Amino acid sequence: MGKKHSHSKTYYNDIALKLAHRVLGIEHLHYGYFLPGQKAVLENLPRAQAQYVKNLLSFIPKKGIKHIFDVGCGTGGVATELLKKKMQLTCLAPDPYLITKTKENTKNRVETITDLYENVEGPSGLYDMILMSESCQYVKIKEGWEQHSKFLRPGGYVLIADFFRIRELDQPYLSKSGHPLKEFIETAENLGFSLIKKQDITKFVAPTMTIYQNLITGKIFPVIEAIFEFTARKFPRFYKIMRKFLKNKVLFLKTKYENQGPDIFKKYKSYQVLLFQKKS
Ligand SMILES: C[S@@+](CC[C@H](N)C(=O)[O-])C[C@H]1O[C@@H](n2cnc3c(N)ncnc32)[C@H](O)[C@@H]1O
Repeated sequence: MGKKHSHSKTYYNDIALKLAHRVLGIEHLHYGYFLPGQKAVLENLPRAQAQYVKNLLSFIPKKGIKHIFDVGCGTGGVATELLKKKMQLTCLAPDPYLITKTKENTKNRVETITDLYENVEGPSGLYDMILMSESCQYVKIKEGWEQHSKFLRPGGYVLIADFFRIRELDQPYLSKSGHPLKEFIETAENLGFSLIKKQDITKFVAPTMTIYQNLITGKIFPVIEAIFEFTARKFPRFYKIMRKFLKNKVLFLKTKYENQGPDIFKKYKSYQVLLFQKKS
């Protein structure tokens, strides 16, 4: 029987994540948590990402947590830190490359699942905690909560760090990523979860957008422009076809990324750390 959901929708996102991992050499695939005075430059990103993990893991309740399901585990950076805390882990990502990296980084000390979270069927009631570090935006709200409910033991926890939409997207070229925060929390409560801790870290993570924007507009687009120029000179007939199909798409993406700076991010998105508990 075929799978309920196909990876094709999130596939492009995983290509971007793999590229970031390979080109930038960064181990974590989430935002950085920049302390006051820390400059938003690429060299500071690994330290800011380590600060993000430290803050996130401080939300794990001191008692009753042993087996954690790391959903959307990236390259296993957060899992590696959890192993240091003597946790037992199951790590899931839909992309085989990310799972291979997770196994390498954790020295095979975690169980792994290569699939979309929505496709996982069991076992039920096994985990003390489900962790979604910047991966909850990829799973539809209701389906995500139904899965959490199935896999957690009674009284188990869901720990989420991600950005959410907090107002209507009332301009063109804005990023649509992130669930609406109000709807996300209401759905959790309707499906048997209580929100027990909430922290807004938007202003600490927003500098990541400066790095992201500088990288895309200052480094990636100039490479694309050079490829266009080279093709125009060397293969003029092919260039005509390429220009016809790609020019508008590239211009659209350029304008979109120019609209993704930290101020726009803070206006439309809120980066939250949320700890929920499943009602017994
Ligand atoms: C931004 S990365 C975060 C990775 C990691 N948690 C971290 O904090 O570094 C998003 C992760 O979510 C995964 N992902 C995307 N769609 C998913 C889905 N439907 N189910 C499970 N994981 C998904 C990606 O493969 C990737 O590992």
